[in-house]
Amino acid sequence: MELKNVLFEKEGKIAIVTINRPKALNALNSETLKELDNILDIIENDDEIYAIVLTGAGDKAFVAGADITEMKDLSALEGRRFSILGNKIFRRLENIEKVVIAAIPGFALGGGCELSMACDIRIASEKAKFGQPEVGLGITPGFGGTQRLPRLVGEGRAKELIFTARIVKAEEAYNIGLVNKIVPLENLIDEAKAMANLIASQGPAAIRLSKAAINRGMQCDIDTALMYEAEVFGECFSTEDQKEGMTAFVEKRDKTFKNN
Ligand code: CAA
Repeated sequence: MELKNVLFEKEGKIAIVTINRPKALNALNSETLKELDNILDIIENDDEIYAIVLTGAGDKAFVAGADITEMKDLSALEGRRFSILGNKIFRRLENIEKVVIAAIPGFALGGGCELSMACDIRIASEKAKFGQPEVGLGITPGFGGTQRLPRLVGEGRAKELIFTARIVKAEEAYNIGLVNKIVPLENLIDEAKAMANLIASQGPAAIRLSKAAINRGMQCDIDTALMYEAEVFGECFSTEDQKEGMTAFVEKRDKTFKNN
């Protein structure tokens, strides 16, 4: 498979995926979205990968949105299809059985902010900027922004950001819960990799099941969600990793997880 717009590297237990169109501030055209989808095929089937760091090439942008040049002349039907394509791939990323950390050097606008919100955790550089500027282009957010932003920052703040198209700096994004952590730009990738490696050193099934419980629980009522939590909690006791993790604690020795 030839990859042009998305780079993929493996480093031990983690994958680093880089949206690589720096001249267009890593804007997402359909070709780039399809490459990202192809990379998810690889990562999904690789049991050695436990966590993913997703970033954008260059210092200036994570992703400056969906590609405006490509969208400019779309018909209503084509616009709908483009949104469905982005939503399908972002949803896949959101539900992948690995932890995904967005490392955001600069602009995360429109589809870029939406891509970061489909990740589990967002680490931003001090220079990062976030926003949903779509209404200024005469469109609505189309890759999940109308749904994930209110879930992350609350309905009132999401409405304000979407209706005003206001761009917020990293600090404000942190204060409203859009970002987990702010670090200096020069440390961004190392910090993201360190967090990914820390996550990759925990019990793999427990991480996978915790992610599934959070993602599923956020979509349903608390009683159903807690039943699901009890199910995955029970499932942990069928794993070798639970036996190893607890035995190592009791025996006061280091644990070795085998992902089974
Ligand atoms: N699509 C296509 N090209 C883009 C782009 C985008 N979203 N964002 C930036 N670029 C291109 C620019 O056209 C420019 O290309 P040329 O050098 O060929 O002219 C190059 O990237 C560099 O950009 P600028 O010269 O504009 O850089 P700047 O530093 O002056 O401004 C910016 C940076 C404020 C991010 C500005 O580029 C900008 O406003 N970009 C658009 C942001 C935006 O509106 N994003 C939302 C898109 S709609 C969307 O995402 C819909 C959805 O929900 C699915």
